[in-house]
Amino acid sequence: MARAVVFDQIGGPEVLKVIDVPVTDPGPGQVRVKVEAFGVNRADQMMRSGVYAYLPQLPHARLGIEAAGLVDAVGDGVNGLSPGQEVVVTAVPRMDLDGTYAEYVNLPASTVIPRPGGQDAVDAAATWIAYATAYGTLVEKAGMRPGDHVLITAASSAVGLAAIQLANRIGAIPIAATRGPGKKETLLKAGARHVVVTSEQDTVDTVLGLTGGAGADIILDSVAGPGLPDLAKAARHSGTVVLTGWLDTRPALLPMNWPLTVIGYVNFEHTLDPAAVARIAAFLDSGLRSGALSPAVSKVFTFDEVADAHRYLESGSQLGKVVVTV
Ligand SMILES: NC(=O)c1ccc[n+]([C@@H]2O[C@H](COP(=O)([O-])OP(=O)(O)OC[C@H]3O[C@@H](n4cnc5c(N)ncnc54)[C@H](OP(=O)(O)O)[C@@H]3O)[C@@H](O)[C@H]2O)c1
Repeated sequence: MARAVVFDQIGGPEVLKVIDVPVTDPGPGQVRVKVEAFGVNRADQMMRSGVYAYLPQLPHARLGIEAAGLVDAVGDGVNGLSPGQEVVVTAVPRMDLDGTYAEYVNLPASTVIPRPGGQDAVDAAATWIAYATAYGTLVEKAGMRPGDHVLITAASSAVGLAAIQLANRIGAIPIAATRGPGKKETLLKAGARHVVVTSEQDTVDTVLGLTGGAGADIILDSVAGPGLPDLAKAARHSGTVVLTGWLDTRPALLPMNWPLTVIGYVNFEHTLDPAAVARIAAFLDSGLRSGALSPAVSKVFTFDEVADAHRYLESGSQLGKVVVTV
């Protein structure tokens, strides 16, 4: 038996509980991963609260879409991975069934890769989803180029901070948006060329001012909500808005400042594609080894503190990733 986090009902962080579950052998094509640390993602909080893209299968629903650990056992037909190898989990399409909040998890070998960049488990657990999402959004979907102005909302999130680093790595100009003044200096130190404090500044006016009246080439927006049509006015003529999340869960209206490309992005498009995973891993490996990419770990919790980790995520006070060690 081994420990796993489950929940039997939709609700607040208090519904999360640690129970013992059987450790099973990996099936054909599967790998059993001994989880050392997992990242807490907004998707987990949304799944637990019943506002994710689909409802969890209850009772004993699992959580977790990323983890760093060691290969513990491999099933028939698995090549290229062996017990003891340091790995990360790249995708868990049904986290309510196979979630990584556990001591052991069996997953398809295609969703387990050697750890890029020689990271330790905590840093690795803070890296994949944030950087794969930022990379998929900015590079694969929006075609970010050197010199592009990139407006990033929720910039203090793990995805936002990764996007700032990616923009800098490629020679683009990251403009970070944060709701209050408290995180402004840290965002500048994290590489943002400019910071818009949305409680004090008009985002559109500020971005137009910073871009000579043209507007941002790309907007990476994780907030959505009723503010989306106004936010989109910060984009240049024929610019691109990529929606990666809906932190403001109220309905959003379609932006009408056409011509404008609006994309709804889900990283499974890339994290379930082995060719895209190889591109992301290569980009990460080179960036992590050079120091140009470096995940921000906001706070680390123990396995028994998993509910507190969700409370911290919900507080909005984080700067980067919330990680739980197992
Ligand atoms: N599409 C995908 O495949 C994919 C994959 C991963 C993550 N995501 C999305 O990326 C976003 C960030 O996720 P994360 O896990 O990295 O970080 P996170 O913990 O969800 O981000 C927290 C930050 O977002 C800002 N925020 C929170 N609520 C907000 C609201 N109502 N309005 C505006 N800003 C708000 C806060 O920053 P300030 O206080 O500085 O404003 C907060 O520190 C989420 O929307 C998530 O769903 C999408």
